[in-house]
Amino acid sequence: MERILVTGALGQIGSELTAQLRHRYGGENVFATDKRDECPANMVETGPFESVDCLSPAQIKQAVSQYRIDTIYHLAALLSAVAEARPLLAWDVNINGLLNVLEVARVYNCAVFVPSSIGAFGPGTPPDNTPQETIQRPTTVYGISKVAGELLCDYYFTRFSVDTRGLRYPGIISNVTLPGGGTTDYAVEIFYQAIKKKRYTCYLEPDTRLDMMYMPDAIRAAIEIMEADSKKLVHRNAFNLTAMSFTPQELSQEIGKHIPDFVMEYQVDPVRQAIADSWPNKLDDSAARQEWGWSPKYDLSKMTADMLKVLAERVARGEL
Ligand code: NAD
Ligand code: SER
Repeated sequence: MERILVTGALGQIGSELTAQLRHRYGGENVFATDKRDECPANMVETGPFESVDCLSPAQIKQAVSQYRIDTIYHLAALLSAVAEARPLLAWDVNINGLLNVLEVARVYNCAVFVPSSIGAFGPGTPPDNTPQETIQRPTTVYGISKVAGELLCDYYFTRFSVDTRGLRYPGIISNVTLPGGGTTDYAVEIFYQAIKKKRYTCYLEPDTRLDMMYMPDAIRAAIEIMEADSKKLVHRNAFNLTAMSFTPQELSQEIGKHIPDFVMEYQVDPVRQAIADSWPNKLDDSAARQEWGWSPKYDLSKMTADMLKVLAERVARGEL
């Protein structure tokens, strides 16, 4: 991993992953791209950035050949709630965008990181300690695209020896870039509202349990799996991953330990509630632990304390 391309680099994960990759491999060696071109100053000041649309094979090919890329972190996608609103676009970006990246990777001999999701599971999946290999019959276009993406990555590895690797991320909680339209976004929004207004109206029911992860763990996982010994990877493209599992009510109670007058209200959005209800409560991530040594560092209490600290600092600096 010496010359890296990141697609979707302006998104929730991409913005922080790009910074960490540049810190680790050198700014000039990490080429950040996104369909959007309105780019924060720190992204252009720390390394190359260009607008690249993953639906354009020519633009991906140009980026990979020009910068002599050997590894692609493919993050460009539409998330679950946005995908339900625009299913055809979601299919196009999540499947054809991925295929374009895999084809260029095949021709230019690149390794590829592709995140899947807890959304790759459905109502028929065992919800507790969801096994690594189990029923995958998702009911959302996002989930269907994620299952197909996992299989495409397997196919490019077995058929063409492209070094594809990936994780089934849970909801990611972060404090730099707001999430891009997923079902788990409440677990980020709640912290911003808790800091600014001491109250939050949640669009999921109080007892909706989902897997979650703090961004530092999510980024470390992406780098660790790409640096892992290929010979030890049995599952390669769709490792179950988790760090914590909680409900909106439990998160509200944890925030209440720091902000005693925090108020949580509920106004359920039936679309996102139905999506959340179709996803597991808690994944079994033992394959990731065994095959490449995965171990999360943040649980609910540690993540909550850090989120509130960082966001309070951002408020004090006038950033929020
Ligand atoms: P995001 O929505 O925050 O960012 C996605 C980025 O992709 C955006 O900046 C968008 O401009 C860009 N994009 C959209 N269409 C594009 C195109 N045609 N060409 C190039 N760029 C395009 O998403 P994220 O949260 O950073 O997620 C990144 C990946 O991780 C996705 O595959 C997502 O499914 C997966 N994932 C995320 C989470 C999470 O909680 N954030 C959880 C599970 C899996
Ligand atoms: N956080 C993502 C979403 O809700 C999970 O893939 O869409």
